[in-house]
Amino acid sequence: MTVFFIGAGPGDPELITVKGQRLVRACPVILYAGSLVPPAVLEGHRAIQVVDTAPLTLDEIVALLEDAHARGRDVARVHSGDPSLYGAIGEQIRRLRKLGIPYEVVPGVTATAACAASLGSELTLPGISQTLILTRYATKTPMPEGEALSDLARHRATMAIHLGVRHIARIVEELRPHYGDACPVAVIYRASWPDEERVTGTLADIVEKVRATDIERTALILVGRVLGAEGFADSTLYGASKR
Ligand SMILES: C[S@@+](CC[C@H](N)C(=O)[O-])C[C@H]1O[C@@H](n2cnc3c(N)ncnc32)[C@H](O)[C@@H]1O
Repeated sequence: MTVFFIGAGPGDPELITVKGQRLVRACPVILYAGSLVPPAVLEGHRAIQVVDTAPLTLDEIVALLEDAHARGRDVARVHSGDPSLYGAIGEQIRRLRKLGIPYEVVPGVTATAACAASLGSELTLPGISQTLILTRYATKTPMPEGEALSDLARHRATMAIHLGVRHIARIVEELRPHYGDACPVAVIYRASWPDEERVTGTLADIVEKVRATDIERTALILVGRVLGAEGFADSTLYGASKR
């Protein structure tokens, strides 16, 4: 018996991996994070127990995993995007290790990749930014020392900010001194879902543009000069010198 932590991808049911889909269809127990995992991702399952864990506590989730273990039933534990990012799998894994329950992690397409795809952009352009910072806005979960937005912004790297769209005005204030008013920003709501929305602008006008929508959650803020640039130089990957 194994608990499979499976990345469901960003929303589009075709963006789960082949392995993830195979396991979802094969496991007799499915626990899924219903707030961000669409039911379409579970299509074709033959499970005897399917539970949306959005309203459950960690103890209740672990009790379900223990019960499946006692019955010898594999579990598909489905999280949105890639489970290693802001998925709270760490605390479940700690409990499983203590209980001696085997687990495996199956990666998924993270929201940042879906947002870049939606914009048709590369997030790492030679001469502009070769670094991508994945971070979140601190609300209930505080940021460790040195990881405040203003600290990260000093690098002027491409940045993907999760869980922050409600606080976009404060975020922009922290970024402006480092990236400058003209820096491009994109706010993407539910990338890859049928109701996806994209708002693009600069640090000077993005707050007002987002306020004109009703986007309040499930949106990623992408910031960086790569979003507005043609690129200063071609990459060496396909350069003529390779011949
Ligand atoms: C709890 S985190 C989960 C991230 C997820 N594990 C991943 O790899 O994408 C949820 C946040 O991720 C971002 N997010 C998740 N899915 C998204 C999507 N389809 N489009 C835009 N942002 C998304 C939003 O910032 C949202 O508030």
